[in-house]
Amino acid sequence: PVIRLADYRPTPYAIDKVDLEFDLTAERTLVAASLVLSPRAGTAGEPLVLDGGELTLVRIAIDGRELSADDYEASADRLTVKAPPAGSFRLDMTTRLDPAANTKLMGLYRSSGTWCTQCEAEGFRRITYYYDRPDVLSVFTVKITAPKTEAPILLSNGNPVSSGNLEDGRHFAVWHDPWPKPSYLFALVAGDLDAFEDDFTTMSGRKVKLAVYVEKGNAPKAAYAMDSLKRSMKWDEEVFGREYDLDVFNVVAVSDFNMGAMENKGLNIFNDKYVLADPEIATDTDYAGIEAVIAHEYFHNWTGDRITCRDWFQLCLKEGLTVFRDQEFSSDMRSRAVKRISDARLLRSQQFPEDGGPLAHPVRPEQYKEINNFYTATVYEKGAEVIRMLKTLIGDDAFARGMDLYFDRHDGEAATVEQFIASFADASGRDLEPFMVWYREAGTPTVTVEENWDEAARRYRLTLTQETPATPGQQTKKPRVIPVRFGLVGPDGGDMQPSSIAGAEVNGDTLILTQPSHTVTFEGLPSRPVPSLFRGFSAPVKVRQSLSSADLIFLLANDADSFNRWQAGTTLAMTALVKATQQVRAGQAPSFETAPIDALGALLDDPGLDAAFKALLIAVPSENDVAREVAENVDPDAVAAAHQAYRRTVAGRLAARLTAIVAADDAAAGAPYVPDAAGSGRRSLANTALDLLSITGSAEAMALVRRRFETATNMTDRMAALTILVHRGDADAEAALAAFFERFGNVPLVVDKWLSAQASAPLPGALDKVMALTRHPAFSFGNPNRVRALIGAFATSNPTQFGRADGKGFGFVADVISRLDAANPQLAARLLVTFRSWRSYEPKRRAQAETALRSIQIKPQLSRDVADILERTLA
Ligand code: ARG
Ligand code: ZN
Repeated sequence: PVIRLADYRPTPYAIDKVDLEFDLTAERTLVAASLVLSPRAGTAGEPLVLDGGELTLVRIAIDGRELSADDYEASADRLTVKAPPAGSFRLDMTTRLDPAANTKLMGLYRSSGTWCTQCEAEGFRRITYYYDRPDVLSVFTVKITAPKTEAPILLSNGNPVSSGNLEDGRHFAVWHDPWPKPSYLFALVAGDLDAFEDDFTTMSGRKVKLAVYVEKGNAPKAAYAMDSLKRSMKWDEEVFGREYDLDVFNVVAVSDFNMGAMENKGLNIFNDKYVLADPEIATDTDYAGIEAVIAHEYFHNWTGDRITCRDWFQLCLKEGLTVFRDQEFSSDMRSRAVKRISDARLLRSQQFPEDGGPLAHPVRPEQYKEINNFYTATVYEKGAEVIRMLKTLIGDDAFARGMDLYFDRHDGEAATVEQFIASFADASGRDLEPFMVWYREAGTPTVTVEENWDEAARRYRLTLTQETPATPGQQTKKPRVIPVRFGLVGPDGGDMQPSSIAGAEVNGDTLILTQPSHTVTFEGLPSRPVPSLFRGFSAPVKVRQSLSSADLIFLLANDADSFNRWQAGTTLAMTALVKATQQVRAGQAPSFETAPIDALGALLDDPGLDAAFKALLIAVPSENDVAREVAENVDPDAVAAAHQAYRRTVAGRLAARLTAIVAADDAAAGAPYVPDAAGSGRRSLANTALDLLSITGSAEAMALVRRRFETATNMTDRMAALTILVHRGDADAEAALAAFFERFGNVPLVVDKWLSAQASAPLPGALDKVMALTRHPAFSFGNPNRVRALIGAFATSNPTQFGRADGKGFGFVADVISRLDAANPQLAARLLVTFRSWRSYEPKRRAQAETALRSIQIKPQLSRDVADILERTLA
């Protein structure tokens, strides 16, 4: 069935209070739920219809009286009480669960022996019958009883109330959460875990006990997560004025988890990938990921928990906003410019293809079949960009006032995007109705820029025309409000100031486009400027602008905006790569201009630029990036050949500098490892340089890689070197892989890196290797991290081998999806998304991909998750 935003109705009953008792044993779990319900105005006596998911009901009573068979209907996925009492009443239900058999990892399940939960979006209904929707808020009290040796730690939401021993080696704990919440924020954990503990004193002086729970022996690896948590708590007080509101805050890391992490009130549950770190096992990227995800889940305490969503169509209300907040946090902790570039890259690589393909949907969708398929880059990342544009549009002060107003007005409520936007309209006095198009319409606008310089009149004109392509179900598009942060760069590299600007609203350094086309006239300029548009990636759009190489090289060297310096370099590289791909397809040898490469070289020499930024400047756009730019009739082998040729050219011209960069990093290697912006920037630059040097395959370069693999003192450098050895098919690659596994084979998160390095190797044997690795003892189809590390990496990071001309790459991934679907539909559906751009391939591969997709479709009993993605992908 299709769920539609337009059909929203409140429930006929409110749930005033919830008591849950979990009786956990290895063999079975009983859940006794006691709900106090009351009819909302005018709904007394209406049937009570609650959601369930694969449930077994063992008892049901109302106000203490057992119901007879005629009074209700209970199926696995629904409970109907036909004629409830007219006033408020108590409903008692007991359900029996089998957490050990719960391979979907939704509801209550076991992960390495720990009982844990994941309820968002619709997992709570797999625990008890309930109004499992975000607009039903209630106060929860939870009692857990469990065998004490198996589960000495018993956790739920809110504050601890009491605990004690029972007979037969059992014990109990009671938790009470004073903050009304929807069911998706419920959580329970019971297990034998170690804790890394600390505390935090809030701005009003309240002391909060903090703990990060991990598997036995792993407590030291939680230190960075704890540090990130304390910094997040402080930052949210300082920047958003938000204080924590319970006596305890607990984080639990589990090894089987479908997503990244979950913001359950007072009890965040994490994929251990986003908790566990030390220099031996974690890379700089892992550290940054932990910092961001810990912050993200913590920030949800206000944007998600205190103010939640009225319905799942409003998912971006909490996710887009919370991503925006975690991005700001990371920018403040590290380098703002570097963070902005990484976020733009992520958006372009994940969200743009989604928006331009069969799975395109608005930031705030209007219908869905399976909500789990809408935890997407569009809702999260584009949702964050929309907030950032809003801030640019109304300015920092109005944005801050709007946030305060939103918190004041809607604290304790389940809100909508309209209510959120109304706070900013009221705070700024700006009509934001035109801005709502960003929420309502899918698709990435293209802004085409044409310029005209009138030397005699000293008048400069820019014509900016926007167009958004049709997306599934939305044929025509309205013009959007597009903030264009800009500068007109003069010959000295500084921004020139025109005497007047006409043709569009101007707000400081920002032009605001509202019409399909604007011609903006700048008067009184001494000479033709070089336009620097969309500074800081001020809008999530594609820009079509034909700046000359000379202009781009000038911006690369001079733009005051670091994002646009990087952008100019990327545009130059991309232009070269696309042209080279065309040459390869035409049977010609690719050729490259040298001036842009020399310009990069000059930047490498600039002591004023930080290393992380330099690393981004010399990072060549990926093969997937190039394929996206090519857009149709893509031949991944041609892209790869062009990519290889380009990197060889860059490596050749910059060899001396790249070698010096690696040498400088070697010299710094003795210093203690610090995963901060400076340290990670230095490593990132050195490893990018090493990767480029290795592309030539020269004996010296490969010897350098081997030496770095052997002498590495941290996982970042070790993994970078291992990946190069494996991807170049180096003679020592197998030995290096064996040595690496020998050392880290017992650390699953490191095994994931080992799997991914092999799965992403651009070599003809990669598919056979991946197939063999599915039978390796360290691999398991039951663990989402292992599956993503091996199969996910193959499908997303190995364009030539996934996209093999014989279709075997597609066929293999399709088989895995079919095989996974029954056990874990969410995981299977995620993997299926890797096919979303299948129509961009050249005809032969397109047909092969379609055959693979159809092979999934003919399987009986597809999950709703997979059926939904498949149907849209093939439509
Ligand atoms: N709210 C979580 C987060 O972004 C994501 C949970 C999604 N889980 C799911 N099964 N759809 O922080
Ligand atoms: Zn989130």
